[in-house]
Amino acid sequence: MKNRTAITLFGGSGDLTYRKLLPAMYNLHVLGKLEDNFEIIGLGRRDYTTEDYIAIARNWMKEYSRKQYADETFNEFAKRITYFKIDISNVDEYARLQDFYTSKEISDHVYYYAVAPELFLTITEGLRKYCSQNKAKIIIEKPFGADLDDATKLNSKLEEFFGHDEIYHIDHYLGKEMIQNILSVRFNNAIFKGIWNKDFIESVQITVAEAVGVGTRAGYYDKSGATKDMVQNHLLQVLSIVAMEEPKDSSMDREQLELLKALKPVNKVEDILVMGQYDGYLQENNISENSKTETYVALKVEIENERWQGVPFFIRTGKKMATRESQVIVKFKAENSAPQNMLIIKVQPSEGIYLKFNAKKPGTDKELQEVSMDFCQSCILENRINTPEAYERLLDACFKGDRLLFSKWDQIVVSWNYINNILAKHKAIGSPIYTYEQNTMGPKEADKLTDWILDLE
Ligand code: BG6
Repeated sequence: MKNRTAITLFGGSGDLTYRKLLPAMYNLHVLGKLEDNFEIIGLGRRDYTTEDYIAIARNWMKEYSRKQYADETFNEFAKRITYFKIDISNVDEYARLQDFYTSKEISDHVYYYAVAPELFLTITEGLRKYCSQNKAKIIIEKPFGADLDDATKLNSKLEEFFGHDEIYHIDHYLGKEMIQNILSVRFNNAIFKGIWNKDFIESVQITVAEAVGVGTRAGYYDKSGATKDMVQNHLLQVLSIVAMEEPKDSSMDREQLELLKALKPVNKVEDILVMGQYDGYLQENNISENSKTETYVALKVEIENERWQGVPFFIRTGKKMATRESQVIVKFKAENSAPQNMLIIKVQPSEGIYLKFNAKKPGTDKELQEVSMDFCQSCILENRINTPEAYERLLDACFKGDRLLFSKWDQIVVSWNYINNILAKHKAIGSPIYTYEQNTMGPKEADKLTDWILDLE
């Protein structure tokens, strides 16, 4: 048998596949990073032929690929793609899938679980029953399970079947250029390294604002909500990178885990958490009547360790907000009552680092003015061209067997524990979900947590 490798996309006709996964692989193809005989198999229930599927993919690629779309290149790329119609919720259908693999002489597999978490176990069961002879890696999307119990059960099943080292928990925020850059900025600059602590920093804000609404993902999102969809994974991962100790080697697993373990357990949830739902959410397709799902969450997090004792970290995320903007804002303590220095790490859509500080106003004796240094990374064409998309970077890493940029199970457990506790308390005391207007920065009730900042320059 030839040694052919394939990635199988469970959820092959889903939003994630079209917007992120296929464009990421197109880019890898253009860069010559896919093996010659590498195949892409999209699974779905719809009655498509491979030609239909490729035609749909072509349009998405025109819109979403980082590398310039070109007919000729896409046609070459498309030779790698096959659509396979299957009901993935029916375990016995996996026998046909294995026959298909055998006919294609594929022996090395990457299975990508790009579907709602309820299907993870069934997929695993189907693969275990019919495809167990294959060598396989699994990439699994967040949220990993519906809660900690669910995640634990799922993890033990996956590990039992595939083995711990073959499971890649993807959190695409870890693949974002500016999130990676936080490490470089923090640990390679004396000017930041020495002051990255409670003596100099007053507070930190992390905002991930989205302009889009729930879109076509209502079935999944309405059961999940912003806390499980974004905070349990992306925002806590970002927070851990901003706040962790300096990694001792190329892996930051230990330091991230220690940081997550140091999150202060929440007592009075009403003092630290505000949830909201955008006006119009209940009218979106497939949202349950009277849904209490939050599309916005703002949270004050404290860290109980020597570096951060007493420094609040404010995190917020929401859909249908006034802008799409993700930033980490570090607010320094005031010196001599002068305006506070601020370091703004712009994650997306523009990427860069902005520093606000004080200087003398020219022509005056001592009068101060706030000035800035602005490094706009994405303003430079070469940077934009050379910056891989998060999914591109992570898929490439997985294909090479590099697990560094993937979430680790022990971190997932600690994050789930923290979030479960908050959600349970929020529910137990019947805390409200405030309605907020679309195109705003969320419910005004979140202002009680802090003066939120967002730099839109
Ligand atoms: C996903 C969430 O993980 O991240 C989505 O499920 C969200 O709800 C998306 O829209 C945001 O990702 P990005 O890269 O656009 O900030």
